[in-house]
Amino acid sequence: MEGIGVQRTTQSPRKILKWAGSKSNVSSQLQQFLTFDRPYIEPFCGSAAFYFERLPPKAALNDLNSNLIDCYRSIRDEPHHVWEYYDALEVSEENYYRARATFNEITRSHLKSSLFLYLNHYCFNGIYRTNRSGLFNTPYGAKKKIKKKFSLEDFNYFSESLKNTELHSEDFESFINKISPTNSCIYMDPPYFTFEGRVFNEYGAKTFLADDLARLHTVATRLAANNIVVISYKNCSEFRDLFERHLAAPITVTRNVGGFAGRRKSETELVAVLGG
Ligand SMILES: C[S@@+](CC[C@H](N)C(=O)[O-])C[C@H]1O[C@@H](n2cnc3c(N)ncnc32)[C@H](O)[C@@H]1O
Repeated sequence: MEGIGVQRTTQSPRKILKWAGSKSNVSSQLQQFLTFDRPYIEPFCGSAAFYFERLPPKAALNDLNSNLIDCYRSIRDEPHHVWEYYDALEVSEENYYRARATFNEITRSHLKSSLFLYLNHYCFNGIYRTNRSGLFNTPYGAKKKIKKKFSLEDFNYFSESLKNTELHSEDFESFINKISPTNSCIYMDPPYFTFEGRVFNEYGAKTFLADDLARLHTVATRLAANNIVVISYKNCSEFRDLFERHLAAPITVTRNVGGFAGRRKSETELVAVLGG
C-alpha cells in the first residue's frame, strides 16, 4: 500500500510543525523496522515525521497535546479558513508576542489553530513550553532566520494528507485502549522520562515519568500479541532493562544542545521491536 492518493511533488513540504525530538532526520534508519502495509499508529505523534514522509493509507495519530491535535484537525477540515488567519499574521517579534497573548486567551477554534502554527514556526526551536498555569510561554525565535510561510497549496496538501486519518488527543494508554489495534504497525516515540514530578520540558508541563516507562512496557507487551510495535528511546539503563529481549540495532540521532539549534551533538537512541 503506497500513499493515500495525495500527489506529492518535490515542492511539497515535508511536515507541518517544527517539533522537539522530531524524527525527520532519522527516517532512513528507522524505516527498516516499520512497515506501512497495514494500519499505522503513532500514540506520541508530535510532528509525525514518519507519517508525513510515507503517508500510510490507514492511520491513527495521537498526542497528549490537544492544541497540536486541534491544529491538525483544523488544517484537515478547514484548510482555507486556517490559512487565511495564518497568512494574515506578519512575522515580527512584536506580532509574535501579541499572537502568543491571544493564543493563551482564546478557546479551541480555527483561529487558535492558526496561532498555534504561527507560534510553532516562529518560536524558539519549536519548543512547546508552558508555565504553571498551562500557558504557552516559549520566547520568539526567528531573530536570525525567518522561515518562509506555508502557502494555501501547502495547506491543501496537508489537508489531503490527513483526510483519512483518525486524530486523537489523550494519554497513550487510554488512546490504545480506545482504538484496540490489531494487525497494525505501532511506532512509539515517547519523551525521555524524568524522575521529578513536575518539570517544564519541551512538550509542556506534563512530563513522562519513570512509572510511565514501566506502563509503556506493559502496553507494548500486550500490543505485541497481534501487532508490530517499534519504540525508539534514550540510551539508558531503565529502557535497556525493561526491553532487553527486544532490542534491535540502535540509531544515531542529532539533538540540539540545551535547545540551541547552533549547538548539535550526535547520540545513540535505542530501538525495541516487539511482535510481528
Ligand atoms: C519525542 S516527541 C515525538 C516526536 C515525533 N516522533 C516526531 O516525529 O515529531 C514525544 C511526544 O509525546 C507527547 N506526549 C507526552 N506525554 C504523552 C502521553 N502520556 N501520552 C501521549 N503523548 C504524550 C508529547 O506531547 C510529544 O509530542
